[in-house]
Amino acid sequence: MTRSGAIESSVEMALFELMRDAKHEQFKEIQLLNGPFRFTNPQQIEAVKTTDGPLLILAGAGSGKTRVITVRIAYLIAEKQVAPHNILAVTFTNKAAGEMRSRVEELMKGQRMQSAPLISTFHSLCVRILRQDIDKLDEGYKKSFTIYDTDDSQKVVKACIKDLGLDEKQLAPRYVRNAISSAKNRGEDVEMFAAQGRTGRPKKAAIAKVFKMYDERLHTANALDFDDLLIKTVQLLRRSPETRDKYNERYKYILVDEYQDTNALQFAFISFLTEKQQNICVVGDDAQSIYGFRQADIRNILGFEEHFKDAKVILLEQNYRSTQTILDVAHAIIENNIHQKKKKLWTANPAANASFTIRLLTPTARRGLSRQRSRSINAAVSATALPSYIAPTPSRVCLKKPCAGCGSNITSSADFRFTSVPRSKM
Ligand SMILES: Nc1ncnc2c1ncn2[C@@H]1O[C@H](COP(=O)(O)OP(=O)(O)O)[C@@H](O)[C@H]1O
Ligand SMILES: [Mg+2]
Repeated sequence: MTRSGAIESSVEMALFELMRDAKHEQFKEIQLLNGPFRFTNPQQIEAVKTTDGPLLILAGAGSGKTRVITVRIAYLIAEKQVAPHNILAVTFTNKAAGEMRSRVEELMKGQRMQSAPLISTFHSLCVRILRQDIDKLDEGYKKSFTIYDTDDSQKVVKACIKDLGLDEKQLAPRYVRNAISSAKNRGEDVEMFAAQGRTGRPKKAAIAKVFKMYDERLHTANALDFDDLLIKTVQLLRRSPETRDKYNERYKYILVDEYQDTNALQFAFISFLTEKQQNICVVGDDAQSIYGFRQADIRNILGFEEHFKDAKVILLEQNYRSTQTILDVAHAIIENNIHQKKKKLWTANPAANASFTIRLLTPTARRGLSRQRSRSINAAVSATALPSYIAPTPSRVCLKKPCAGCGSNITSSADFRFTSVPRSKM
């Protein structure tokens, strides 16, 4: 008999025994182990089964974070009889949301569902809410609002610069749009930004003027830019208890993947949605935050337990992607981070050959990558000799000391992102 044949028949035997003993609960467990819980380790199972109350799942790359979210959705529906439409899972990119959706579909194959869980990006969730309730914001927006993408926004900014008689050469539309977007993501509105402008540099005052006109034009056109989507949703939930109630009722179980990348606005959004039920499960890696430029705030992960009293924390420390060699070296670096929760990844995968090459990119270089302005640093390192410069998968770490191979202009507080590590070398 093949190995899998033997496993199947022993599972069948166990099922038979359990059915005969009519131990229904255990029977269900066995079913689960064959179903959604397959390839799920004990910590992951605990994370899946801790369904009620706030839960922070902290884990490294490749430790099955997204898997936990998807299995948990299947578990809530199949075992806890939660109506699928009462479940909301949020992540950052359409790609990640799509991937999560197909993983859930795969897990739920063969099960009839009366409705579907909502698996969405933050932005499309905001659009969904605003399309239904933006009128309750009382700012004159209509539900048929238009969404301006980055290009549309930049065109409006350019027109405002021109109409205000400002010089495009002094004040590049792209730069101004970015400044407006950053301000919005920091939670500053036109007035707050303008107030700073008066005491600050003339350039800032000029941007404030553009900002004001830009916002007025969008408002007149019944349009929202990408940043507004989140801002207006948070304002709506803050101002309208009725709307807050509605979504608290609808989304009884909320799951957030890549939680380390949330910014203060996204945190406020989640807090409003979970005001009543607090069945909030967030999954993240505090060593992997990549959206600092969008004001992602690592304090959201570090302060989760402060905000959500009685939060449970589960660490997933088994990694399924890398070798022990690379995890050891990664740990040696990440350990140096000050603002981080302690965890140590391990894997059942074998150790790798000791020496490999790695490319480190500074954040500036990373941002410039697409424009071919990347300034990369190559450092040949050996896992045993130099336990300081490598992370397992694209990841962000903070080095305590400047590294010898990295050039003299790298300061001790520089962040590095690791890229281009050939999988075969991991
Ligand atoms: N308990 C497990 N046993 C075997 N493979 C697993 C287990 N948990 C996760 N994996 C696999 O590890 C890989 C990484 O999982 P994923 O959920 O994408 O990790 P993360 O979101 O933490 O990066 C996937 O291929 C997944 O199927
Ligand atoms: Mg993931």
